Amino acid sequence: MLPHKQIELKLQAAVREILPDANVSIVLVRPCPDPKFGDYQSNALMSLAKTRKLNPRQLAMDVLAKLDLTEECEKVEIAGAGFLNFRLKNSALTQTLAAAARGEHLFFAKVASPKTVVIDFSSPNVAKPMHVGHIRSTGIGDALQRTLRLLGHRVISDNHIGDWGTQFGKLLLGWKQILERSALESDAIAELERLYKIINAECDANPARLEEAKSELVKLQAGDAENISIWKEMIRLSQIQFDTIYARLGVKFDLALGESFYNPWLSEVVQDLLAEKIARESEGAVGVFSDPAGAGLPPKEDPFLVNRDGEWVADPALVRKSDGGFNYTTTDLATVDYRLKTWSPDEIVYVVDDRQSGHFKKLFLIFARWKPDAAKNTRLVHVGFGKILGDDGKPFKTRSGDTVKLGELLDEAEKRAFEIVKTKQLERPDGERLPEDEWPTIARVIGLGAVKYVDLLPNRQSDYIFNWDKMLALQGNTAPYLQYAYARIKSIFRKAESGKRKAEIILSAPEELALAKHLLNFGLTLEAVAEEYRPNFLCNYLFELAGKFTGFYENCPVLKANDAATRDSRLLLCDLTARVLKQGLDVLGIEVVEQM
Ligand code: ARG
Repeated sequence: MLPHKQIELKLQAAVREILPDANVSIVLVRPCPDPKFGDYQSNALMSLAKTRKLNPRQLAMDVLAKLDLTEECEKVEIAGAGFLNFRLKNSALTQTLAAAARGEHLFFAKVASPKTVVIDFSSPNVAKPMHVGHIRSTGIGDALQRTLRLLGHRVISDNHIGDWGTQFGKLLLGWKQILERSALESDAIAELERLYKIINAECDANPARLEEAKSELVKLQAGDAENISIWKEMIRLSQIQFDTIYARLGVKFDLALGESFYNPWLSEVVQDLLAEKIARESEGAVGVFSDPAGAGLPPKEDPFLVNRDGEWVADPALVRKSDGGFNYTTTDLATVDYRLKTWSPDEIVYVVDDRQSGHFKKLFLIFARWKPDAAKNTRLVHVGFGKILGDDGKPFKTRSGDTVKLGELLDEAEKRAFEIVKTKQLERPDGERLPEDEWPTIARVIGLGAVKYVDLLPNRQSDYIFNWDKMLALQGNTAPYLQYAYARIKSIFRKAESGKRKAEIILSAPEELALAKHLLNFGLTLEAVAEEYRPNFLCNYLFELAGKFTGFYENCPVLKANDAATRDSRLLLCDLTARVLKQGLDVLGIEVVEQM
């Protein structure tokens, strides 16, 4: 067991002895923010004391009297208002590293009680090109599914593709009247986009045209054979595009149940909401309004209200339009219901743009009213994110002002990375260059890694500025920097003639200790990512790891160490660092190369 877990369990047991009724699951041990005070810390005793009106320092002393950590820690210190600070014993540290070196763990453990989590992410729309914004939901969602899986949770990843809706009326009309077969064959999505733009403009200008499009939609909804087969063809062509991009990004889904999958249940959902008096008719449509029974929400926090000119007016979630069609919310309700029935998940996570936060607030409240029992066991979470901006601080666009297509962005990433790889290789003397046929692979790994990493690095809710030079830099908090750190460690092993795997770990230099202690926090970082759905915690952890490795490597000679025992111990530290870097990047969906 990892030392922080061991400390946590013993601390919980000691608390239970002093306060038998306490909920010890809140007694957690976390890394100490400042190593001056210790390696780990717990602040739980303060809140336990507070709710019981006890003196927190006295409580801390009582708990310490029951706590035997002689194996794990130096003397435990009580600090400030009742913090506990733990400092690991060198022996506990070396034992943990030795176990990792033997392959028993890599500083993380599978969770004791796995959760079932449905992750809804990526979710592009049919007949439209995937654009730069899709990297966000796709990358964050994939990093989350990888993290949860690694920790042993049960994950169902579902790509909720937008394959239904009013746009198909216009697309069908375009397909029947102005489709160019050759264009469709060479670039299907571009041709579908062209159809849509033309017909959409015509509909805006000419009500008769709009009626034509609507009647195509009605026919589709009624199951007309011709329209259904064209619609299916449009989905098939889009899926080819999606699959190409997912293959490049290395992203996999367990399922891709599009919106249309839920059509059979939509009318039932609305009937149910009406019968339960959760929804009501209004101007021919059906909508859900503020909960009359839930008088708790102040207007500001009530998503079913909107402020117009200083007055709060209703902003219902529509579930049936006046023409009988159903809405985005209706599909999402049917989707929640299906997911509950199919997997009884503990959580359903939606990785979707923050601009949809109003939709999800409404959805979650309706769900709680509609399925109160299920809502007690299933938590719905909106994992939102901000925008990608250009250097001018405005949404990132091409020079001509179009949205940036994701495929083209990935091409450019690889191309730019190739130039960097080439320059670096040509700087080296002839005999030290990597074979030229490996350059494209290295460029692909660096280019795609850079694009993914730059998107995962900021707090996901902030907007960030897309800058090629920064994200591809070999210095700073970038993927290429981490990939380079990995390759550099690997090169040490190529030079080491006989790195003994069974060596003993000896930690004496401060840089060795700092690196070792940071390695131990890998699992805690993964857990924090899984808990708060924030992959940026892991980015920062890995960046710090690479920094600590540099500090170690500059101050502690490895291959030129004074004696064989030190050398072999240091080689083990190198190896563990490389493994954590590789595993950590893999969780972020980023590959490494052994040489670059
Ligand atoms: N297709 C939607 C869009 O592009 C995103 C769907 C997100 N998932 C969901 N269950 N609503 O805006």
